[in-house]
Amino acid sequence: MKKIPIILDGDPGHDDAIAWVLAAASPELDIRAITSSCGNQTIEKTTYNAQRICTLLHLCVPVAKGRVRPLVSEPMNAPSVHGESGLDGPILPEPDFDLEEMDAVTLMEKIIRKSDEPITIVSTGPLTNVAALLLAHPELKSKIAHISFMGGGVQYGNWTPAAEFNILVDPEAADVVFRSGIPITMAGLDVTEKALIFPEDFERIRTLDNPVAAIVAEWLEFFYLFHRNLGYKGAPLHDAVAVAVLVKPELMESQELFVQVETIGDFCKGATVADFRSILKVSPNAKVLMGIDRQGFVDLLVERIAKYGKERRT
Ligand code: BDR
Ligand code: CA
Repeated sequence: MKKIPIILDGDPGHDDAIAWVLAAASPELDIRAITSSCGNQTIEKTTYNAQRICTLLHLCVPVAKGRVRPLVSEPMNAPSVHGESGLDGPILPEPDFDLEEMDAVTLMEKIIRKSDEPITIVSTGPLTNVAALLLAHPELKSKIAHISFMGGGVQYGNWTPAAEFNILVDPEAADVVFRSGIPITMAGLDVTEKALIFPEDFERIRTLDNPVAAIVAEWLEFFYLFHRNLGYKGAPLHDAVAVAVLVKPELMESQELFVQVETIGDFCKGATVADFRSILKVSPNAKVLMGIDRQGFVDLLVERIAKYGKERRT
């Protein structure tokens, strides 16, 4: 099987962490590097979380720290969703490896430059690092096959009525990505709020009875607390959709659309505005995911988490 070479960029984060669990257990993917972004928590915390996740999963790939703050906007975090650590809940192993000395953008640049085949970037946090890479090294665009990211929503937001968290944190970065000309898959709220993991699914994962499954079940419990109080029937596993679309694209429904990011505005900063009616008469710049086979998504997660057998050290 030909593997898709990917770089995982994210701000873990419970759903980022589970997205990486899925990626690391998927033979369709070849993880070349991991980079942290600031979003759910400060870059120090998300980087530490990235290291702890890699240690838990025995994922031996280079890991580098991302940019300290968004390109232009003031930093903001989401402790109400992910806790003070950015990944509250179960106790995780301490990192058993060192970070790369180079920063995230330099690591991405090196991996992409030296690769014989174009790399796919999977971003599950604000797009700060990705945009910084494209601005600093536009010559590498042809070596980026695809950017699959969680962010936005063409119908509604979750942090403001119009904006989803990852895009709101760094709208200028998202704008750079949408204008890049690189093939984009947008896993926004339109699909990720349908990617619900119900409490009975947590139990299905827990009964897999391996150390990673036990931690994933606890992450889901923690992540669901915030959402249950808002009336959700399950935990929307946003970030894992940006990975699942690479592993099993047949689970998704999508629409090709021209999408622009609102970077200013009193009410709509961070909105991803889609031209559903082709009013602008320009070609689509994004594959926007709109629907998901929820049961198929859960089955995929369960199948892949089951691979973390007891022989793996935690
Ligand atoms: C996004 O915001 C973060 O809290 C999650 O990790 C996800 O990437 C959902 O809006
Ligand atoms: Ca995230």
